[in-house]
This record gives sequence, C-alpha cells and structure tokens, in this order.
Amino acid sequence: MNAQPCRLVVLISGRGSNMQAIVEACRQRDSGAQVVAVVANTAAAAGLDWAQQQGIATQVVAHRDYAGREAFDAELARVIEGYRPDYVLLAGFMRILTPAFVARFKARLINIHPSLLPAFPGLHTHRQALDTGVQWHGCSIHFVTPALDQGPIIAQGILPVMAGDTPETLAQRLLRLEHVLYACVTHWLGQGRVQLDDHGCVQVRGVASRGFVLMDDRVVLAGEGAAPCAD
Ligand code: GRF
Repeated sequence: MNAQPCRLVVLISGRGSNMQAIVEACRQRDSGAQVVAVVANTAAAAGLDWAQQQGIATQVVAHRDYAGREAFDAELARVIEGYRPDYVLLAGFMRILTPAFVARFKARLINIHPSLLPAFPGLHTHRQALDTGVQWHGCSIHFVTPALDQGPIIAQGILPVMAGDTPETLAQRLLRLEHVLYACVTHWLGQGRVQLDDHGCVQVRGVASRGFVLMDDRVVLAGEGAAPCAD
C-alpha cells in the first residue's frame, strides 16, 4: 500500500451514482484512496450537491463557457492539476476529451463505459445491445486513450439480458454492477496494484480475474465466488 493515500479527482456530468460508489469505497478501511475533488462540466450535475454534503471539494468548469474543446479541456486540466491527482476517474462524464488532455493524463485517466467493450462504444449502449440481440450485456472500466472507448481494460462486468428488457431496465441492473466494479477498481488503485505494462495491457497485482458477473441479484468476481468489494 502507498504511504500517502492515492489522490483521486472524479469527473461527472449528472447524478453521480458511480462517483458515490467511488467515495464510499474510499471510506472502507485500508482503502488507501481519497477523493480530493469532484469536478463537473455543468452546474446542473446533481452529484455535486451530494459531494458537497460529504465535505468533498467541488468545482464546475462549464463547457458552455468555452469557445471550443481545446479551450475547455485546457481549463479543465488546469483545475484538475490543482488537486494533484494520482488518477482522474471519469464517472458519467459526458464530454469527449481532446488528445492533448488525454496525453496530459496518460496512464492516469480512467473511464467507465456501459457496454462490454469493444462492443458498443459511444452512446445508447443499452439500446444497441437490445437491437443486436446479444444475450450478455456489461460494463467496462478502462484507461482512456485518444480512440473513443478503446483503451486498456482494467475490469469488466457482465449480466444476462432478460426477456422483456428495455434500455431502462437493462441500464438499471447494469448500474449496480458498475458501482461494484468502480468500488473494486478504486480499491486496487488505492493499494497501488494497477499497472499498465509495456504492451499497453493492464496488470493488477494479486488478482486472478478482473471479470465480474451479476446473476440472480448477486455479483461475483470470477474465481473468487463473491465480489471482494461488493456493495
Ligand atoms: C453510467 O451508466 C455510466 O456508465 C455512463 O453514464 C452513467 C452515469 O451514471 N457513462 P452516474 O452519473 O454515475 O449515476
């Protein structure tokens, strides 16, 4: 474990339930991680209120106030750097980041995407899953690279698609899995166990599998029988 807590800045655009899961994970004993700030691209992000109530520093960098992506990303990066993060976690942050921003936070920028990547990058992933007829849907936590939703995968979770599922029901069940995954990844980061190897692949020390399954209302980590960081 690191001597100093691993400093996390979390970026949100909306309700921030993944951000809450990250904050709660940091409160676990021996987490080794701390959310030092929550930054949003809009003051309307509901998760800001919750973070403030927890005593966490919050800041808004409103993308609408900037002429273009470059200017917005430059200010966003400046604000984030002020908190000296070890990692920047995107948690429902709905802006595409410029290559310059991604390069600045290389190997420190992490995203959660609501699909089993590389399937269904981009938006409307639950609708895409249903339209395609896949029987398993999922979520992925990955390092961010300039190619949208294509960076090295840290963890993935799957769940079965059920007859009668709608994008809404699927999203709701998947969200529970997202929270467990982000909590676990937060834990791994806090313990300094996550590394990107020379081939751009992720290694997590002491973890046999990084694949999670939500089935019959239970989340398990493959090979473990139960998710060690379950909610
Ligand atoms: C999550 O499903 C995330 O995967 C997607 O947007 C949603 C954000 O939810 N990118 P929340 O703001 O974390 O509650």
